Formats: sequence, C-alpha cells, structure tokens
Amino acid sequence: MESTRDRLINLLAENKDSFISGQVLSDSLNISRNAVWKHMKELEKDGYQIEAKPRKGYRIKKYPEKLSSNTIKWGLDSKWIAKKVIHLETVESTQTIAHQAARENSPHGTIVVADEQTMGRGRMNRSWHSSKEKGIWLSILLRPEIPPNHASQLTLVTATVLAEVLSKIENVEPLIKWPNDILLNRKKTAGILTEMQSEQDQIQYILIGIGLNVNHSIHDLNEDIQSKATSLRIETEKEWSVKDIIQKLLIAFETAYDAYMEDGFAPTKKKWENYGFKIGENIAIKTFNDKWQGKFLGISDEGALLTESKDGTPVKLYSAEIDW
Ligand code: BTN
Repeated sequence: MESTRDRLINLLAENKDSFISGQVLSDSLNISRNAVWKHMKELEKDGYQIEAKPRKGYRIKKYPEKLSSNTIKWGLDSKWIAKKVIHLETVESTQTIAHQAARENSPHGTIVVADEQTMGRGRMNRSWHSSKEKGIWLSILLRPEIPPNHASQLTLVTATVLAEVLSKIENVEPLIKWPNDILLNRKKTAGILTEMQSEQDQIQYILIGIGLNVNHSIHDLNEDIQSKATSLRIETEKEWSVKDIIQKLLIAFETAYDAYMEDGFAPTKKKWENYGFKIGENIAIKTFNDKWQGKFLGISDEGALLTESKDGTPVKLYSAEIDW
C-alpha cells in the first residue's frame, strides 16, 4: 500500500505547475494540516525544494537527485514507458525483480531500477559489476507482438538508443561493438542483457536489462576490468545526474521502440551501422567451438553479424563474440 508520504508526493506531482493548498492536502490524505506541514519538512530534509506561499499552499520546486520512483517519474513526459516504476535500493539483479513483476502481470513499459546490484548478470553467464549509485542498473519490461526470433533486434534497437543518447554529450563518441556493447575510447561503458519468456510462437514478455557505468572513478571499477571498462565520468572528467540520463534514455527508447514497431528493423540497421565498431575492418571472431579472423561486413537485415568464414566466403552469425 502507498504510504501517506508517497500519496502526498503524487498529489504535489500531479499539480506540478500550480500550488495545492494545505487544506486540500489535509482533506485528501485525511491528516491534520500540522501533519502536512511536518511531512513537508521531512521532504525538505530529503532534498526536495518545497515552495510554500500563504493562502496558496505548497508546490515542489525541485526534486532531489536521489533515485526513487517519484524522482524518475517527475518531469518524464512519456506515453507508455515507466508508468510503473519499481525502484529498490539493493537487489541481486533488476532482471530477477522484473521477471517477478512480469509474472504478476505488470504492464508493458514497467521499469525496475536499483541503486545497487549484488549479483548483476551479464551476457554469456558473466557477472555485471554494479556499484551503489554509480551507474544505471535498469530493466525494461516489454510485451511486444513480434515473433520470438525478432527479439534480438530489440537489443540492437536499445544499443542504438544508448549510443544516440551518449553521442549528444560533448566530446563523447560512442561506438557499438557487436552485438550490443557500448564503447567509449575502445572501452566498454554499457552492456545490454535481453531475456525473453515465450510460448510456441508467442512472446509473453521481454526484459531489456541495461547497465551503464556513469560516475565510476577508475578505482570503482573491479581491478580485473579496469583495462577494458570505463565510465562516463572517467571519459568526460565530470559527474553526471544518473536520474537525468535515465529519463533521457527512457524517452529515446520509447520513441525508438514505437518507430521499430511501425517501420520494422531497416532504419535501426542503418543507425546501428553508423555506430558499428570495426565495420569494414578485420576482427577476431569467437563462436562456441571455433576462433578465426575475418572482415566485419556489417549486420544483416535481421541484425546478425555479417563476416567472412575462414576461407573468406561471407557468413552470417547469430551468436558469436568479436574482438580485435
Ligand atoms: C553485458 O554486457 O554482458 C550485459 C550487461 C547487462 C547488465 C544489466 S544491469 C541491469 C540488468 N540487471 C542485470 O542483472 N543485468 C542487466
């Protein structure tokens, strides 16, 4: 059940641009006007800036930076994404919570965000280091009406969204390493883990898990990944608002998802290839049981890796790791 405090924040958020009187708040929440005032003082302690005017009432002027379902929703002008936000301080993995939410019928567009993950998951059963309040640890629940074998295209849609959002930052030039690692200066700053639940030919839901290193200093990265990983802060020498980047990502994702549903994969393929790392160059290819060098020719109309087999003939790979 929603706490009085959350209901109070919701009432203030719904009246974002105008004042709401102490009497209306007290009536709606069934608490005294003095209790309303005390709640306001508590909100201020948490970093909310509240404007109080005699005979007019209260209004939130500024939300705190700290993540919460309210701060993420505040000012987020979305059509369907993040209408439901599950924010938790510490979780094993946001994917686990999102699977649970999906099974409990949470709607398309629900997001799960955590300040910290203790058992963050990466692709290929790797772990994903997710230190407290340093980055974006986010899962998006989708219920798309597409065939299950198109699900990986949504991963590539997400990678282009991440690249586009990051490329708006001055001096940041992201590249996408196939299929979906986001590199800054050849080091990984973000990864995407897509998980799907489907039955026969029908997708029940897809979870897009996004991990983005934002405010890590080099020491915040595990020693074993320091040579291969980076963060936005390391690359720009600046701290970033995790909340602002989440909001930008969500809005860009919503637009890209709607466009993909409307126009199919072709526009994404083009955008992806604009950011594609090593397209036209030689790469090291590793599949389940083989390793070789070949030219990276681009991605196919379905999003597979187009490269050369050992004898130089073109080949399409749906699952592989690339390196340089
Ligand atoms: C990869 O590059 O291997 C994918 C990393 C994906 C990490 C994100 S963080 C949010 C979500 N929860 C997880 O446990 N993993 C994904």
